[in-house]
Parts: sequence; structure tokens; C-alpha cells
Amino acid sequence: MLALGVNIDHVATLRQARYALMPEAHNAEPLLLEAVAACEEAGAHGITIHLREDRRHIQDADVYQIRQAVKIHLNLEIGNAPEIVEIACQVRPDSVCLVPENRQEITTEGGLDVAGHEAAVAATTARLQEHGIRVSLFIDPDPAQVEASARVKADMIELHTGAYANTQGAEREAELRRLIAAGRQARGLGLQVNAGHGITTANLPPLLDIPGLAELNIGHHIISRAMRLGLRDAVREMLTAMQAGPSGC
Ligand code: PXP
Repeated sequence: MLALGVNIDHVATLRQARYALMPEAHNAEPLLLEAVAACEEAGAHGITIHLREDRRHIQDADVYQIRQAVKIHLNLEIGNAPEIVEIACQVRPDSVCLVPENRQEITTEGGLDVAGHEAAVAATTARLQEHGIRVSLFIDPDPAQVEASARVKADMIELHTGAYANTQGAEREAELRRLIAAGRQARGLGLQVNAGHGITTANLPPLLDIPGLAELNIGHHIISRAMRLGLRDAVREMLTAMQAGPSGC
């Protein structure tokens, strides 16, 4: 069954917008643990959080508190920076997704250049796996990156769906074909195939054709819909869309 990991970074974004300089404030809101509970009640399979080096949304204390409280799968997104990798090894989430990080970006832009940094990615992958953590690599649907992900012995890839989400028409069709080919290639190499970035209930159906798709990580759209529906129903809405299954085209 296709699993949903809800990325709750933007719940922290809203809290930081008011309370960044008052981390201990008794009245800081919204509460991340309430968001975790809402996702669990709605039937999400996992929670995803990104501890960025600039700490713009998720804070170190959030990671430890969520690790303690969460009953479903916890996926921690991190850049390959020694300080952050160390925190991941201490916290032991169920999985870590390695992402590229650039301080100027608004959100994660391209995929990780695994092929260009094989030794560094292999070392971090092995270190995390020694701590019992499954490792995913967030990559563009590029055959060279899929091959490199298998060579560094990652457990999973997360295909970057941002280019698919941000284009339309023939460009989007071409991007979908790249995602499908990358999924097929990754399955052939024994990698679990996940996907994420920019996914909405509207652009989701064609993505369900990616071979062997196991997990989606979705944040911005669900949190945006939560403004209207509440978080529980926004998560349920996405789960319903995911149940539609592949279109078979
Ligand atoms: N997957 C990864 C690796 C990401 O970096 C992000 C964005 O934080 C997402 C999934 C979720 O993307 P979105 O918020 O656009 O759904």
C-alpha cells in the first residue's frame, strides 16, 4: 500500500514567524505535537521533518520531542553536514532522507548530486545505517543519480517531483516519463522508490504510475488545505486521493 508521510515543517514555520526569538514562550503556537497527533488520527503512515542547518523552521528540541511522542514512522530530512548527521545518529529516526541544502533557497531546489559526491554520501549512508536508520536519497529522476544511489548502498530513493509539479503540458509529460523510467530503474536495482515535492491532490494521479512507488512525502499542499479543512481532514483528503491507484497509462 502506498504510504503517506506528512511533512510538518510549515507548522514550525508558522510558530517561528512569531516566536523564533522566544523559544521557551509558554504561549508559543501552533504546537508540533498537536500536528503529529492530528496526522496520526487521520491515518497518515509517517511524519517527516527537515532539520535545516539554518534552523529556519524545525528546531533541535522539536526533533527530540517528536521522536519521543510519535507512534508512526519518523523520517528526518537532513543535509550531509557533520553536526546534523550527528543529531540524526542520536535521535535514531526510522529513516533519514539526505537532501541538498543551500542557505539561500526557499525550499529544497534540485536533487542531491550523489554521482558527484559518491564517497561522502556512501560514508554518511553507512554511518546512519550502523545506527539502525534506513537511508533515502532525494534525487532528480536522472539515470546516473539512480545508479549512484545503488552504488552507495542507499535503501531508498525519493524522486524529486518538483519539476513535474512546476511545469505543464508537454514539459510535464516529459518529466513524468523521466520519473516513471527512474522508478523502474531503481526497482531493478533493489531500491525502494519514494517521491516528494510539490505534490497536490490535483497533480497526484499520474504520479501513481511510477513503478513500485512506496511512499509519498507531502507538506506544503496538506498544510495549505488545513487552513480550510483542518489538518485531520486535509490528511484524509490526500489519503483518499492516493487510494485511487495507478491510471495504467
Ligand atoms: N521531500 C523532500 C525531500 C523535501 O525537501 C520536501 C520539502 O521540504 C518535501 C518532500 C515536501 O515538499 P512539499 O512541501 O512541496 O510537499
